[in-house]
Amino acid sequence: MANVAVIGSQWGDEGKGKIVDWLSNRSDVVVRFQGGHNAGHTLVIDGVTYKLALLPSGIVRGGKLSVIGNGVVIDPWALSKEIKYITDLGITVTSENLKIAENATLILPLHQKLDSLREGSNKNIKIGTTKRGIGPAYEDKIGRRSIRLADLANKDTLSDKIERLVNHHNIILRGMGHNELNPKEVFNELLSIADEILPYKARVSSILSDARKAGKRILFEGAQGVMLDIDHGTYPFVTSSNTISPTALSGVGQNIKALNFVLGITKAYTTRVGEGPFPTEQENEIGEELGKKGHEFGTNTGRKRRCGWIDAVMVRHAIEVGGIDGIALTKLDVLDGFETIKICIGYELDGEIINYLPIASEDQFRIKPIYEDVKGWSDSTYGARSWNELPAEAIKYVKRLEELVGCSVSLLSTSPEREDTILVKDPFED
Ligand code: GDP
Ligand code: IMO
Ligand code: MG
Repeated sequence: MANVAVIGSQWGDEGKGKIVDWLSNRSDVVVRFQGGHNAGHTLVIDGVTYKLALLPSGIVRGGKLSVIGNGVVIDPWALSKEIKYITDLGITVTSENLKIAENATLILPLHQKLDSLREGSNKNIKIGTTKRGIGPAYEDKIGRRSIRLADLANKDTLSDKIERLVNHHNIILRGMGHNELNPKEVFNELLSIADEILPYKARVSSILSDARKAGKRILFEGAQGVMLDIDHGTYPFVTSSNTISPTALSGVGQNIKALNFVLGITKAYTTRVGEGPFPTEQENEIGEELGKKGHEFGTNTGRKRRCGWIDAVMVRHAIEVGGIDGIALTKLDVLDGFETIKICIGYELDGEIINYLPIASEDQFRIKPIYEDVKGWSDSTYGARSWNELPAEAIKYVKRLEELVGCSVSLLSTSPEREDTILVKDPFED
């Protein structure tokens, strides 16, 4: 039985939610493995829009098990709010269909506060984070002072753990000239939410191993994208987790044999939200048009996304380091009506032509994209459900992209709606 991981191949918001929702029909279990509620995954089913941040996109289909793995950082208040939101939309969430790893790290209000303070301070470079506390929570995880979900079940030892964590944060807060926190208050705050989320606590690693033994199919749902990976992205303008496919395993407690196919979700152009280098950005009417036609506003924060042409050099890098076997090309319809479409095929740096993204941030800001022009199409691809409905130029664009990035298209998406999807090659049957 094949298990499939879905990861983003650019700077996030490639359409992972839509594709995971579409694929979840073919799977039994859908698992989130990294990130947190910095993610915003949009699903549109028969005209109804669902916006998910922490919950796996499989939650909207009945009969599927949704799992949040140990690699995810969980804000209990955000989770509680999201469960209420999705329940109001008629979706059932119970401790039977949602399981959360007992060893997952929690995001506390102090993490969110620190994220905001840092972003607001002009002593730091501005990353343009989602201010959800993601970075500070992962720092504490690596620093071995996190509160994990299982800790909420053991109230006798929880206060000591909180004290250790708060002591660390108070040194930082003092240094920044802010009021210190009272460990007792943090403890009480956490206790007030504990009973709400403890019912979902589970031994996720074992549950997934059992599911595999029973021949069930697992769909791993990534958040963000390879260019936001802490090691392989445009550091320091990245998120604080690894977004590449091996994290699908380490982030849920599965071994290397549990993953059979990696699907890289790739937007037919590029967007980025937040600060950082973006070689193909179009700060002109082309960028405006892409943003308008693609409704490029953050699912989560509502921020306007920066827009530009597709960068084949970057996607090729994402395919290599991400371990991507096939691409799901999304938002092809947004390119309808452009007379000429550009694809970045290399960069110029100090008069030299390079075919890779330099590692230094300063260089990433300086490089000039080298483009190949592709003829556009005037007919609509919006809502197309088969290759036959696509104009010849649109097919040529897809084929040229495949050549340039060295990977085939498995799925093609032509609108936000679940069913407006063209299956080329089933990732589960590969
Ligand atoms: P994710 O974070 O990767 O799940 O992506 P987001 O949900 O943040 O952003 C993708 C946006 O594009 C959402 O509003 C989707 O509804 C929308 N979308 C996904 N696929 C397509 C497509 O093929 N065409 C169009 N026009 N919109 C799409
Ligand atoms: P999905 O899963 C797009 C960006 C932020 C910021 C940087 C660091 O919807 O694709 P963080 O809050 O993670 O510390 O912010 O990463 N970012 C995203 N951009 N899509 C996302 O998720 C993102 N999650 C984080 O804008 O630049
Ligand atoms: Mg998103």
